[in-house]
Amino acid sequence: MPETLRYAGIVGVGAYAPQRVLTNEDLERMVETSNEWIVERTGIRERRIAAPEQASSDLALAAAREALAQAGVAPEDLDLVIVATNSPDMFFPATACLVQDALGARRAGAFDVSAGCTGFIYALSIGSQFIMTGAAEKVLVAGADSLSKMVNWEDRGTCILFGDAAGAVVLEPVPEGYGVLSFSLRADGSGGPLLTLPAGGSRLPASHETVDRRLHTIHMQGREIFKFAVRVMGEVALEVLRKAGVGPDRVGCLIPHQANLRIIEAAAKRLGLGMDRVFVNLDRYGNTSAASIPVALKEALDGGYIRPGDYVVMVAFGTGLTWGGALVRWLPEARGRAAGVAPAGGQNELPGQDSPP
Ligand SMILES: CC(C)(COP(=O)(O)OP(=O)(O)OC[C@H]1O[C@@H](n2cnc3c(N)ncnc32)[C@H](O)[C@@H]1OP(=O)(O)O)[C@@H](O)C(=O)NCCC(=O)NCCS
Repeated sequence: MPETLRYAGIVGVGAYAPQRVLTNEDLERMVETSNEWIVERTGIRERRIAAPEQASSDLALAAAREALAQAGVAPEDLDLVIVATNSPDMFFPATACLVQDALGARRAGAFDVSAGCTGFIYALSIGSQFIMTGAAEKVLVAGADSLSKMVNWEDRGTCILFGDAAGAVVLEPVPEGYGVLSFSLRADGSGGPLLTLPAGGSRLPASHETVDRRLHTIHMQGREIFKFAVRVMGEVALEVLRKAGVGPDRVGCLIPHQANLRIIEAAAKRLGLGMDRVFVNLDRYGNTSAASIPVALKEALDGGYIRPGDYVVMVAFGTGLTWGGALVRWLPEARGRAAGVAPAGGQNELPGQDSPP
């Protein structure tokens, strides 16, 4: 173990979203809703839907390959693969093990993190610790979800919100003062019933009855989640800034979990940040759960919203209830080769996107 802690930073970012687009107008034909209602209440205009043969590990793999290419890191040099997901391919093995194998990351340990839509923040914090302590040199952290497979497409309160995607980052030791400067992980399990996928686990094993009662789909009390999110998003952003002694006025870019524009605006207001310093792409992807932050991070970097040396705050909330944040100081200059593949509509896509959800 080194005598002092090292700094852990993001040296490569990748993202992937399936090709199939589901618009609000498409949803108007499926449930009683309207484009106006969805845009006004959420800010979402369209979302991506994974093909029937695409599982979360497929999405994670595409994002991981791009992140590794950008970092200039070979899969066999990875020490650890961590995947944050709420829609694993199956209960076990872990989705991270499937990604580790498909990548050919022969030397890496692999495990999943289940922390709702806050999963990427949790996984980033865990991965950073391994670098900071010297226990690992190269860590891949991905957030991947395909909640379209778990949504009740007759429930207008949930089916309008979610989309499928994955994002990934590569972590390495970086110069002092850069990389992850602080983080905060929080939970309040008493709020768990507000957002659940009730059946299929050891409490309610799968049966004809659980399938008939749609207990294998997402159940949510949206208004309660909304109130919780508005309360915690700004709070946890201020907390990570306070821990690092960085004032909100020095934040270059806020990357919030992309669930609802009104929640994002409330967080920005709490920080005193203009929306020009807040990255938003939920209009095109909806809520992609654990993928939302790394996908937004990738697009913010590609779009020039994050510059070398910037302070970047990432904040999220989700089922659990969980919430959390991380403050990252971006490296002074980009390293590795730029991958430049946009998550939507780019070449980095898996085949097959025909069937309806
Ligand atoms: C879900 C959410 C968009 C609903 O918006 P809201 O302003 O809270 O709306 P409400 O739930 O209070 O519903 C208002 C009305 O719209 C109706 N409604 C709900 N979904 C609708 C839809 N898709 N289209 C049209 N009307 C809808 C409700 O039935 C309700 O009707 P009523 O007043 O006759 O009962 C919002 O609460 C939200 O974004 N919550 C957070 C959810 C979230 O982020 N979950 C993921 C966590 S990671």
